[in-house]
Amino acid sequence: MKKDKLNKVIFILGVSGCGKSTIGKLLSQDLNIPFFDGDDFHPEGNIKKMSNGIALNDDDRQSWLITLNDLAKKQVLRNSCIIACSALKEKYRNILCNFIENQSKWIHLSGTFNHILERLNSRANHFMPAELLKSQFDILEIPAYALQIDINLKPEIIIQTIKEKLMTTSEFGLFGLGVMGKSLARNLANNGFEISIFNRHVKGVEENIAINFKAEHKELSTAKAFDDIAGFVNSLQQPRKIMLMVNAGKTTDIVIEDLLPHLAENDILIDGGNSNYLETKKRFEYLKNKKIHFIGAGVSGGEEGALKGPSIMPSGDLEAYKKVQFYLETIAAKDKNNLPCCVYIGSEGSGHFIKMVHNGIEYAEMQLLAEVCTILENLGQNPDEIANTLESWKSTADSYLLNITTSIFRKKENDEWLVKKILDKAGNKGTGNWTTIASAELGVPSTLIASALFSRYISFYKDERIELNKKYTESKSSTINATNKEVLEAYQFARIMNHYQGFKLIEEASSKFSWNLNLSEIARIWTAGCIIKSTLMQDLVGVFKETTNILTNLTLETIVKQYRPAAKKVVSECVLNDLTTPVLTEAVQFLNGITTEYSSANVIQAQRDFFGAHTYQKLNDASSKNYHTNWIE
Ligand code: 6PG
Repeated sequence: MKKDKLNKVIFILGVSGCGKSTIGKLLSQDLNIPFFDGDDFHPEGNIKKMSNGIALNDDDRQSWLITLNDLAKKQVLRNSCIIACSALKEKYRNILCNFIENQSKWIHLSGTFNHILERLNSRANHFMPAELLKSQFDILEIPAYALQIDINLKPEIIIQTIKEKLMTTSEFGLFGLGVMGKSLARNLANNGFEISIFNRHVKGVEENIAINFKAEHKELSTAKAFDDIAGFVNSLQQPRKIMLMVNAGKTTDIVIEDLLPHLAENDILIDGGNSNYLETKKRFEYLKNKKIHFIGAGVSGGEEGALKGPSIMPSGDLEAYKKVQFYLETIAAKDKNNLPCCVYIGSEGSGHFIKMVHNGIEYAEMQLLAEVCTILENLGQNPDEIANTLESWKSTADSYLLNITTSIFRKKENDEWLVKKILDKAGNKGTGNWTTIASAELGVPSTLIASALFSRYISFYKDERIELNKKYTESKSSTINATNKEVLEAYQFARIMNHYQGFKLIEEASSKFSWNLNLSEIARIWTAGCIIKSTLMQDLVGVFKETTNILTNLTLETIVKQYRPAAKKVVSECVLNDLTTPVLTEAVQFLNGITTEYSSANVIQAQRDFFGAHTYQKLNDASSKNYHTNWIE
């Protein structure tokens, strides 16, 4: 259901005598919304001061501005309205629009000192000393985001301009109408936002995409559709807020370059693609130099999530984020406490880093399910039976991926299970690759993610697999000795290891890049809207409030201990029966490694010292002295 358009407060600002009340009243009649003259709301003390020709100071203005803000907040609950208020400084305007930033529109009536002084002095009963007006001009901070109106224009023209420029421009722009862009555009429109949408024109390939898309969806009836960049950018209110939903990589840079000539200072670009976090950092710096704000925002949820509420992971400049926060939080999924699954992650490309790790965790979760289904198949279950087994796991291991895998195993095409007809070569768009690279660079053992990625790579060697299968597979693998319950426990065990590793990577990146990331909040925004939402993720929200190491959490420790025997048994059975379950195996081995008090790394150190004189340290030597041995006697 499309929500009604959001009510707006139109603030008309400018120095005394610029015509705020006149224009405010005319606009109010034209738009049929109430008008309030800020001057009518001054406390008595201020009125006395002003009538004695004394300028108000910031303290005098404070309570007055709060009164006007209260008025505005009450009004927007019912209707749009117009408020005239000098609002000369940015800090005054911040008070005026507190809590309603995203529903506030600004008009600055601008004229020269002499012109306004002349006007004031010609008004009956309104004499203003030149110094007083001069002091107003001195403190005036003209807001770049306000619609600038020249007061020399005739009032009718001013009203017409305001209506054209302010009332008919969009508040948010969506650039790129691929699958995700389309869903996000509809999501924004469904939430009552006035949007402009853009898709490029490529002759014979992409023609009239935006216009046709608008025509297909009722909720987009008031959206403005473009295939020319200038028209799109000019249709947006300043500071412009443009979300890019284009292919990550080169395309993002090309699009930024195409947009730049049309943008103005303080405009905000949000990159909602699966961009590499290092590129996001570069783009952030590049655009900062051009005085354009850049927000790298991971968006998860696929087509449906983007439409109904994705999980959003924004990062960059916090002040700029605040200007788009309302839009992103409104369209985001809501967690079990109805809080938006969108939170400011941190500086630079931290949002895209988090999204990258999200995808890494996603890779391992997907692979684990694939492995588990291989095991269930080995146990003699047909796809329907596998679906039933997975469904029965919902009470202990509920997740979005478990649910879609259940549906996948039920799906039939011409009376045959579709899943069995799909070519076994897994694609990838690069985020699992980046996660593995980042893990290696940061020195974090994300072994499950890496293994899931490499499993996809192995799958691609289809021809070689067929050829080597003939050589190496002696007989049909026999049935493994494991129950459904043990498989479930092995699966749950591995999922805990996967989440441990994913969050460890985030924690290490946070400290290396000084991002100060909040693991509990990251888990929270992954409890709804995204691909890795699960009951485990919900549990982790609380766990991360107590510790950054989930393996030290008492409840999880108990579960891991409880499931470990099944995990070991299932993995051993798979190894003995030639079943390919690398990520399950990695999980068992990882817990072995991370809980081994004295590991085999002593041998590695000796070997390094042997051939390369790399030196080693000795146990129980607090001096951390480096030793070298001549290993050949
Ligand atoms: C999401 C998904 C989404 C997309 C992946 C697929 O969170 O909504 O992760 O971003 O499905 O890019 O990645 P691969 O093609 O690499 O599997």
